[in-house]
Amino acid sequence: MTTAMEAILARRSIRKYQEKPVEKEKIDQLLKAAMAAPSAMNIKPWEFIVLTDPDLLDDVRSALMFGRFNAPVGIAVCGNTSFFKHPMAEKFWVQDCCAATQNILIAAVELGLGSVWLGVHPIFNFTKRISKILELPDHVKPLNVIYIGYPADDKPPRTQYDPKRVHWDTYR
Ligand SMILES: Cc1cc2nc3c(=O)[nH]c(=O)nc-3n(C[C@H](O)[C@H](O)[C@H](O)COP(=O)(O)O)c2cc1C
Repeated sequence: MTTAMEAILARRSIRKYQEKPVEKEKIDQLLKAAMAAPSAMNIKPWEFIVLTDPDLLDDVRSALMFGRFNAPVGIAVCGNTSFFKHPMAEKFWVQDCCAATQNILIAAVELGLGSVWLGVHPIFNFTKRISKILELPDHVKPLNVIYIGYPADDKPPRTQYDPKRVHWDTYR
């Protein structure tokens, strides 16, 4: 078991994967991690489309020019706008789904998996193409696709800590 700090520093974007399927139990664990994320007003507007069908994954690769990697699993993180009962709620779906996404990326490290976040929202063309491939209804918005798989690339843990980006008390 890694500590949270170890997993955070070890998380890297993996763009080469082994030809090895990911166990369903591990995918369930990732989704459990995702849904433990904080959420504004606790609305939890997230929904997850798990992609394992090779043809669908091919379609995703065609749609996302920066996502042409051989992962065996994709998880599309989406915001369901029908959950927004308060006008403020719609302002936070992206943050909520980002928090869920980051939990998936960190949990993947703990499970020995690699991952990479592929941006979809707010690029109109990506949103349109991914919505069509995943047959999303209009009220479900794709934030990203996360590729998951056993890594075939060994990237070292690292911190990008930069004291120049830190300000104490006021901006000075
Ligand atoms: C909103 C967002 C969108 C991203 N989109 C892509 C993408 O389309 N393709 C890709 O290969 N990486 C994508 N990444 C991953 C970044 O390129 C990566 O996090 C960054 O280069 C730092 O490397 P690291 O993840 O190994 O720390 C995205 C990351 C974020 C946060």
